[in-house]
Amino acid sequence: MPTPAAHAETRQVPPRAASDEVVLVMDFGSQTAQLIARRIRDAGVLAYLISPDEPIDAIQARKPRAIVLSGGPASVYDKGAPECNPEVLKLGIPILGICYGMQAACVALGGSVERAGRREYGAAPLHRVPVMSDAGLLLDGIPEHATVWMSHGDQVANLDAHFDTLASTPTCPHAVVKHKKLPFYAVQFHPEVTHTPHGIDIFRNFLFSIANCRGSWSMADFLDRSIERIRKLVGNKRVLCGLSGGVDSSVAAALIHRAVGDQLTCVFVDNGLLRKSERRLVENTFRDHFDIDLRVADASEHFLEDLAGITDPQEKRRRIGHRFIEVFKREAQALEQSHGKFDFLAQGTLYPDVIESGHGHAGLSAGIKLHHNVGGLPEELGFELLEPLRDLFKDEARKLGEVLGLPEQIVWRHPFPGPGLAVRVLGEVTSEALDILRDCDEILLEEITAAGQYRTTAQVFAVLLPIRSVGVMGDGRSYDRVVAIRAVTSEDFMTADWARLPHDLLARISSRIINDVEGVNRVVYDISTKPPSTIEWE
Ligand code: XMP
Repeated sequence: MPTPAAHAETRQVPPRAASDEVVLVMDFGSQTAQLIARRIRDAGVLAYLISPDEPIDAIQARKPRAIVLSGGPASVYDKGAPECNPEVLKLGIPILGICYGMQAACVALGGSVERAGRREYGAAPLHRVPVMSDAGLLLDGIPEHATVWMSHGDQVANLDAHFDTLASTPTCPHAVVKHKKLPFYAVQFHPEVTHTPHGIDIFRNFLFSIANCRGSWSMADFLDRSIERIRKLVGNKRVLCGLSGGVDSSVAAALIHRAVGDQLTCVFVDNGLLRKSERRLVENTFRDHFDIDLRVADASEHFLEDLAGITDPQEKRRRIGHRFIEVFKREAQALEQSHGKFDFLAQGTLYPDVIESGHGHAGLSAGIKLHHNVGGLPEELGFELLEPLRDLFKDEARKLGEVLGLPEQIVWRHPFPGPGLAVRVLGEVTSEALDILRDCDEILLEEITAAGQYRTTAQVFAVLLPIRSVGVMGDGRSYDRVVAIRAVTSEDFMTADWARLPHDLLARISSRIINDVEGVNRVVYDISTKPPSTIEWE
């Protein structure tokens, strides 16, 4: 049994000159608050979300270079609407208010807010107003006429005594303003969304020309800070991590291992529904390369027994979910016998998962969340959740994975559904069908990778259809299985398009599958978009 490591001695991170610049994003409940933080990180400055209730001394203690006030769904005059603490505005730190953040701050600074003539949603033409002072810095380099993305029902009014107006739109006279005395700038539109083409330039002007940031932050800094935070939180306790082989849990495991070494144990459940090389890759990477205490629970037989005779996709998912929890729980209990108590359950929850499950920002460790594979386990086993990637978007987690030295096959891995190949063998899942599908899938991925199409696609997989079709093989007639190829491009998996793969690549895939995989005599290519189709077939 490994003893808790004196990680400070065994896992020294080489000292580096870390960036000390932090920008705080005060989140007034906007869907895009984390996107604001992300744009700032993209510009090379570390950004964290804070709540509007954050005490002023806690804000000062973080020594922020600047503060951004996010948008939000409320109207400033609503009962209970979040307020902008006037003390924040007096700190002398550059502040950028966005949409609701602009309105809340302008009210605190003596302006007022009124209902716009009509609710404005979508692209709007922004016209710059010439200004003589350095108030214009925020819009430096932005064309005189630019497009911005609006989403508001209220807007600021009666500002003239205290503010300069830097730009307006046909329906919003004060679309960009600067306080005459304070380093406070505000925009009614959303510079954080890609529909505002010069949004990133506005952030850069704010960060570098107004707040004098250096922009030297990188993912390596995030790594250092995360290690520090994890060590502080975990102390000498133990962490259990359910490793799926996907990007998120892999990055979380590698990060936590870097922080607390042998205090981390990972459990990988082999449910028999994995792709061909999946288990080997996880074992090679985590056990052999990172020297992580990795337990592989081979429960394939149990999963297959549960799936016998089941054809309904939701019932498949339900049974797989139940079995997963049962297996994981059994492993956790067995490990507690050999290792002692595990206090933390680590998960690779990313920011979009946090949004999806309706939880706000809560930092590294935030109560109990039930939407993941491990379901109600944290509660049942008395675990505290450890979610070190909660502030990151997927591509940021990938960057962190690269900094941690994870191999390319893991960092750039396409998503793979929890129920695995069970939802890609349409109809009943048998070990014979899984073997056929695994062989087809392996050929497909080999060809896609060899053609340089793995990184240009979001997901590529084979589906074994529950039908047979007629073919001719040699002199005889065959009546065999049909395999569908699904290859999609997608930004967020909410919408997807079918990948326009070169015809000669499709020809190679088809010919290799039909020649090499016994029992398959036909390959078809799925040319459906999502919506109305979904990415998976079941
Ligand atoms: P759909 O098929 O809904 O898929 O367009 C969107 C994304 O979700 C993945 N997916 C799942 N992931 N458990 C998972 O962990 C599931 O039951 C599941 N169903 C779909 C799918 O692979 C795609 O990335």
